[in-house]
Amino acid sequence: MRSLPVLAILRCLSAANAYVWPSPQLDALEAVRFDQVGFNVLPNSLASFVSPCNLFLFGTTAGGETSGRSDAADWIRTAYHDVATHNSIDGTGGLDASIRFAEEQARAENVGNGFANTANIVFSEVNRYVSMADTIALGALIAIENCGGPEIAFRGGRIDAAEPNAPGVPQPQQDLETHIASFARQGFSQTDMIGLVACGHTFGGVQHDFFPDIVNELNSTTDIEDVAHFDSTYVTFDNNVAREYISGTTQNPLVVGFNDTTNSDKRIFGSDGNHTIRSFANSLETFTSTCADLYARMLDTVPRGVQLTEVITPLPVKPAGIELILDGDTLQLSGAVRFWNMTADPSRIVKMLWHDHFGNTHNSTLTFVGTSSSTGGKYSAAWYWFDPTLPFGFLSLNATAGVRSVSFVVDGVLEDQGGVGFALQDAFMQSQTSCSMGAPEVGRVDVAVRNNANVARVYLEAISTDSVQRVVVTEIDLTPPARPIPATPGSPYSLWSMNLTDQGMLFTIGAEIDGIKYSTGQLLTFEEFPPCPE
Ligand code: HEM
Ligand SMILES: *[C@@H]1O[C@H](CO)[C@@H](O)[C@H](O)[C@H]1NC(C)=O
Ligand SMILES: *[C@@H]1O[C@H](CO)[C@@H](O)[C@H](O)[C@H]1NC(C)=O
Ligand SMILES: *[C@@H]1O[C@H](CO)[C@@H](O)[C@H](O)[C@H]1NC(C)=O
Ligand SMILES: *[C@@H]1O[C@H](CO)[C@@H](O)[C@H](O)[C@H]1NC(C)=O
Ligand SMILES: *[C@@H]1O[C@H](CO)[C@@H](O)[C@H](O)[C@H]1NC(C)=O
Ligand SMILES: *[C@@H]1O[C@H](CO)[C@@H](O)[C@H](O)[C@H]1NC(C)=O
Ligand SMILES: *[C@@H]1O[C@H](CO)[C@@H](O)[C@H](O)[C@H]1NC(C)=O
Repeated sequence: MRSLPVLAILRCLSAANAYVWPSPQLDALEAVRFDQVGFNVLPNSLASFVSPCNLFLFGTTAGGETSGRSDAADWIRTAYHDVATHNSIDGTGGLDASIRFAEEQARAENVGNGFANTANIVFSEVNRYVSMADTIALGALIAIENCGGPEIAFRGGRIDAAEPNAPGVPQPQQDLETHIASFARQGFSQTDMIGLVACGHTFGGVQHDFFPDIVNELNSTTDIEDVAHFDSTYVTFDNNVAREYISGTTQNPLVVGFNDTTNSDKRIFGSDGNHTIRSFANSLETFTSTCADLYARMLDTVPRGVQLTEVITPLPVKPAGIELILDGDTLQLSGAVRFWNMTADPSRIVKMLWHDHFGNTHNSTLTFVGTSSSTGGKYSAAWYWFDPTLPFGFLSLNATAGVRSVSFVVDGVLEDQGGVGFALQDAFMQSQTSCSMGAPEVGRVDVAVRNNANVARVYLEAISTDSVQRVVVTEIDLTPPARPIPATPGSPYSLWSMNLTDQGMLFTIGAEIDGIKYSTGQLLTFEEFPPCPE
């Protein structure tokens, strides 16, 4: 019965009914989820660390492929150990990145260095819209999906804990009753427990260094860190963990370990007379669909009160990296658009239409700039740059006419989000006159504000982190000018200015218009501004 919702979710993943662009949080989550390799993806994206799936960044040998460990396995164990503190009765604990705290990592239930290693990598994707907890979830999800596993429904919006959670991760020497009670506290039945342990233990194994009472030294040149693996295919998602157990050939150190007290997988797998684990051994399909469901539930196990987003599906047409800057009488518009499920095709013609404030529509032919892919190359996307002249130029728009929205025409087919278009915000933007004053830590930010827009506030959004690494956005209001300062004579824009002395500050520009807050989304430091004129 459980498999029905799974099928529904998977159908959703490939369907084209996503949210309406722009939505800063969903746009950011969608990018980390689906822009995995290729154009507009940083070389050290999450997916790059599970390609190949036996990559272990922290190994002593080049690439770590002979370490016996993998980043993929670390990420999955990290996500589970963060989740396992959840208490479904009082609503505390769950996937909230509390595993990042040294105090939690020092507990016996969290022995090993995989948690610190994971934080080292996956936190690089954190931003104001994607929490540390979201990146832990995404790291596990991308490891599973890219290493042979099923697609997993992903929601974002996890909130990072301010302090460690109460302990609660199961340990191998505990008895079956304790494990059943532990999983029940986390929100999982006994059958779910068998599934989750099998779904997790299709990756990785137990290390001698941290579990010398379970695993002996192995002295192997291809398993330098002495890891006794749960199955023979320990960097790949498959049902061998169940098949080898049922066939009696398993080398799983938590099944056939020399000390029966720590054979927890043996007790768990056998706890329903082998019924569930046998169904996994008999059918890869059953195992795969069960794991897709259980992993999604595991990653969505969050403290009470945390509101997760809808399941993030790829936007069929997605503008990205949009920048609007006022330069005298023109608006410099730059950016790109991504077309999902599209490969490179030199004969394809893509045009962008932009709609101005006077009801006129203009157009320009876009330039193909590359492809990206996700899910181990299963999906591809084609990217087009707004400006026909590379590299990274911009379109010059008439500032008086302005721009309300854009849409696209692909080989004659209009893409306008079902009629609503892709809205752009030209009521406020950085002015090209922003400048730095000699000393690198002093500068002036000029914000161009459209005269006929109902702009109540303009502020800088300073991006920093608090004492427990959480991203914090602090609004610093610009004082409205005493009387309008036209950007140029007759310009539809006036300038609001602020002098800055905060060294190295990273910020975006925000404004409140008709009661709604908007952000340019473009990260700035004032060191990049040209010198102020004398
Ligand atoms: C009763 C429950 C569980 C117990 C007692 C248990 C125990 C263990 C132990 C002792 C290790 C070895 C860690 C090391 O050597 O660093 C391990 C590894 C691992 N566990 Fe579990 N586990 C349980 C449930 C789970 C679940 C539910 C998942 C995920 C769904 C999971 C995923 C993993 C993974 C991926 C590894 C390999 C880590 C690596 O190779 O770096 N485990 N587990
Ligand atoms: C992907 O594109 C191909 C060819 O354009 C189309 O046949 C297919 O239905 C698309 N798949 C999805 C999931 O949109
Ligand atoms: C590995 O080497 C250690 C130390 O040399 C030795 O005590 C142990 O028996 C060896 N183990 C195996 C499995 O060969
Ligand atoms: C087996 O493991 C348990 C729990 O770690 C430990 O207390 C016990 O001493 C071990 N037994 C042997 C024979 O090593
Ligand atoms: C479960 O399967 C294992 C491996 O084949 C076997 O050793 C064990 O006796 C079985 N347990 C039950 C309760 O059937
Ligand atoms: C693009 O603009 C040109 C004139 O500027 C016009 O002739 C053409 O029809 C427009 N194309 C589209 C697709 O709107
Ligand atoms: C800019 O647009 C306005 C409004 O459509 C128009 O009146 C003006 O002539 C345009 N300026 C130029 C230089 O095209
Ligand atoms: C910024 O500093 C310059 C030079 O000190 C000064 O002339 C100007 O009035 C200041 N602007 C604002 C908005 O404070």
